[in-house]
Amino acid sequence: MITMVETVLVTGGTGTLGKLVTPLLLQAGVSVRVLSRTARESVDGIDYVAGDLQTGAGIEAAVQGVDTVLHLAGELKGDGEKAQILVDAIKAAGVFPHLIYISVVGAERVPVHSFIDRQTMGYMASKRDAEVVVENSGLPWTTLRATQFHDLLFGMVTAMGKLPVVPAFDFRFQPIETAEVAARLVELALGEPAGLVDEIGGPTVYTMKELLRSYLDATGRRRPILTVKAPGKASRAYAAGANLTPDHAVGQRTWEEFLTAKLAEA
Ligand SMILES: NC(=O)c1ccc[n+]([C@@H]2O[C@H](COP(=O)([O-])OP(=O)(O)OC[C@H]3O[C@@H](n4cnc5c(N)ncnc54)[C@H](OP(=O)(O)O)[C@@H]3O)[C@@H](O)[C@H]2O)c1
Repeated sequence: MITMVETVLVTGGTGTLGKLVTPLLLQAGVSVRVLSRTARESVDGIDYVAGDLQTGAGIEAAVQGVDTVLHLAGELKGDGEKAQILVDAIKAAGVFPHLIYISVVGAERVPVHSFIDRQTMGYMASKRDAEVVVENSGLPWTTLRATQFHDLLFGMVTAMGKLPVVPAFDFRFQPIETAEVAARLVELALGEPAGLVDEIGGPTVYTMKELLRSYLDATGRRRPILTVKAPGKASRAYAAGANLTPDHAVGQRTWEEFLTAKLAEA
């Protein structure tokens, strides 16, 4: 069965990932609607609609007439509730779109039960909650789990690199180029609903210390790095590699290539 994609709503279309997704959708010739909590003028072929997935305001109107919803909006917590509000609004609007969700590698493998786990790794539980909402939505769905984006880890090393002594958790990361995740999501959005698809991860696994050191060296900062054991069961699972997907190291652009280009921009 070949379904024509005509109108796509992108939640999170104003975010780091979303801004790379929308031009690809436009290139593919589909109408692009972007949900944002901030009202914006429609520009560059993108129709912005105001709505908030936390309160539900504006969501039913935002999904009217769409055949595809690319759900990228996310925060550190509460993504399960946001996904449920989105699904409820879709049902109330009487539409039946293909719902594509971006999750994170390890969402189902990091046990988040205690107070400490919720403080440190609540994000992983929140992504898993949203996955379950999507799976049980009754809509045609596709979920992609990705490893940490280069942009996110760059933000992390930049912030931590300002400290006189830089703490590094005993975590590893498999950073992936955000644009490569965007391209895969667009491919999925233009295709048939596929359920939980193969994960997507970057080409190389690094310790957090290695990422920090590469940034400090590249920016000429001489700082000691102190390795710290993160507390709680969830962090232990993360430290054991729950967030890695070495069998799906399909990303092309390396952290080194990204870092060199990013620092040259400054
Ligand atoms: N960054 C990573 O390494 C990584 C890895 C795997 C998966 N992911 C997932 O990828 C997605 C995008 O990540 P990102 O780094 O691009 O995020 P981001 O830059 O922080 O952007 C977040 C987006 O979510 C929207 N949003 C937040 N709360 C909302 C609400 N209550 N109602 C409506 N929209 C809301 C924001 O829109 P407005 O501010 O315009 O309202 C914004 O466009 C997230 O779901 C994240 O969990 C990220």
